[in-house]
Formats: sequence, structure tokens, C-alpha cells
Amino acid sequence: MTALISTPARTRPRFHTLTVSHVQQLTDEAVAISFAVPDDLASVFEFAPGQHLTLRATIDGEDVRRSYSICLSRSEALLRKEVRVGSARVPGGVMSTWLNEKVKPGDEIEVMSPLGAFTCPTDPGLSRHHVAIAAGSGITPVLSLLASALEDEPSSRATLIFGNRRTDSIMFLEELEDLKNAYAGRFHLINVLSREPQEVELFNGRIDKERLERLFGALIPVDAVDEWYLCGPFGMVEGARELLRDNGVGDSHVHHEVFHVDEVGQPAPVIVTEPGAPAEAVVTINLDGRSTEVEMPSKAESILDATLRERPDAPFSCTGGVCGTCRARVVQGEVRMDRNYALEPEEIAAGIVLACQAHPVTDTVTLDYDA
Ligand code: FES
Repeated sequence: MTALISTPARTRPRFHTLTVSHVQQLTDEAVAISFAVPDDLASVFEFAPGQHLTLRATIDGEDVRRSYSICLSRSEALLRKEVRVGSARVPGGVMSTWLNEKVKPGDEIEVMSPLGAFTCPTDPGLSRHHVAIAAGSGITPVLSLLASALEDEPSSRATLIFGNRRTDSIMFLEELEDLKNAYAGRFHLINVLSREPQEVELFNGRIDKERLERLFGALIPVDAVDEWYLCGPFGMVEGARELLRDNGVGDSHVHHEVFHVDEVGQPAPVIVTEPGAPAEAVVTINLDGRSTEVEMPSKAESILDATLRERPDAPFSCTGGVCGTCRARVVQGEVRMDRNYALEPEEIAAGIVLACQAHPVTDTVTLDYDA
């Protein structure tokens, strides 16, 4: 049952059709895709450095959505009237393969307005040391974050510890060199390579807790750093977070984003129910000013999967608890989440949940996407 309830309280991110303006081959396995932003959508596509865009396309008959971080500073985006994302090809990845092989200038793609909490406001009056630890395509949001920090804060400096397999697999190598030239003495790049020996032994191998400990001891005194940015695979991000906690760094200064490429988009569990069995839960969805009641045969199903049967317009992307596109507020009842890599503790305390990870605990739940 669907009923009109009200005008939505907030403008929810939506898909808009954007035209690809440029495709840049970054490495054999990665591209940067730029989209022209028309004047009437300029305010919609304003972003905070570190945020991402969700792309949507029909590929081989399948509706595919994936989120990619914006890899431009804000001023560059305004100057070019573009937004740009980077995509590294993931083995078996439907969207990343399509972006790397098929997409060309002039193509139109559905792009959702920017989202994401992997951000840190800049302040021209501050003199800070920003340190980022990234691996592989984890560079994409970090490039925007560090470029913006260096540009907006003339007295600040930035260091990037960047892990890759080899030099030829480094995404945005040229942009990073440009950054070094533009901010000589203020930007320090440490390349750590796992499959290409370098002179300094410390820079050979993977970025793990042990290597970071040695890097901090030799080059980056932890207590002289103001803001930390971690982006890459789960193990690297968790290892770095643990190490920073052990060193007394407060969580509010550690900004992180995890790439769960191998786990996102898993098929939904098969829910087996007796024919005619009563619903285990009823979830009321408030979305875009319309209220819809959704019967859930089993509380083991995610609220997002149940919702999509009645409201295919419900927002989602990764379905893995990473991107935050499916966020909504619980206004009645109780839910539990399987996992969460997108919400901050204060958001959870305010009742925000990820619908793709949420299951009803109580028999009735109301979820508000508009709040
Ligand atoms: S769809 Fe990405 S976190 Fe739910």
C-alpha cells in the first residue's frame, strides 16, 4: 500500500544524465572518466573532497550501480565544469570492465549527485600536516582531499604513503608529480611497491601495520600529524586504524574509507517461507513524500531487498554496507545491521542505518529516507 504523506524534508541525492566529456587511460588497467556538468546542475554536483558518485548503467541487460570517488579538487571541478572519477578494472567487475573497455566521450550515463562522509573541511587559517595512506584505487578520493587541502590551506603540508604493485600500475602518477611541482616542499610522496624493488628497503612490500610502524618511526612522527586519511583494502585500513589508536590518535582525526570490491554486490540470501505464512515484519517506508508498507516474509531478508519489491525507486548502490547510498533514519521500531563501513558513530546514534544491511528486530519498523 502506498500513500502520499508530505513534501520530503531533505533533497535526496538522485540520478541525473551526464555526458562523458573525456576518457583518460591512466594505466593498462585503469581509466579516469570526466563528465560535463551543465550550468543547471552545477549546484547539484557541488561536492566535498573525498565524496563519491554512483554510476548506473544497463550492462548486458542488467541494472548495475557502482560508486566511484571524485578525483578532482573543487576548484578544478568548477574551472572545468566537470566531475571526474577513476576506475581500476576489477577481475569480473561488470561496471569497471565496461568503464575501461566501452565508455567513450559523448556517451550519456546516469550519475547520482555526490555522497559520502570521507571528508574533512579545509580552513585557510590553519597550518596542518595532512597524511594519507592509500593503496591502488584508494588514491581517487585521497587525490581530491590532499589537492584541496594544499590549495585551500597555504600553510599546511601533506604526505601521501601510496602502495601499488609496480610503477606502471600507479593511478594518477602524473597528477601526483604535478602536485609535487605545484607545492614543492609542502607535498611529500612515498611510493611503496610490492612487486618492483626500490633502493630503500622500507619502501618495498605491502603497506601493513608493521611497515607503517617503521615508516612512522623513520619519517612521520605520529604526534606531528593533524589529520589522517586511510583508503584502500579492509586489512590495510584496519591495520592503520589500530596502529593510530595504539599511538593515541583520536578517531575524529582519522578519516577512512574501505574498498570491499570482492564482497560487495553479493547475491541476496535465498529466503524460504511456508506458502501463506504470515509476514514476520511489516516495514513502512517514507520515500520522496510517499509512504509504502512492505511485508517481509522473513526478518533474515534485508530491508532494502524487501523494499525494492514495492519501491524500485529506493536508492542503493554497492549493497555491501560501503557506499552509504541506502542510508535512512529509523523513526519507529528497531533494526540490526550486519555491517557498516559507511556511517559514523554519531549518525548511528541519530538513528541512521544502511537499508542494505538492516533487518527488522521488532515486528514493525518505519524507515524514513526523507528525514
Ligand atoms: S547500498 Fe551501499 S551501503 Fe547500502
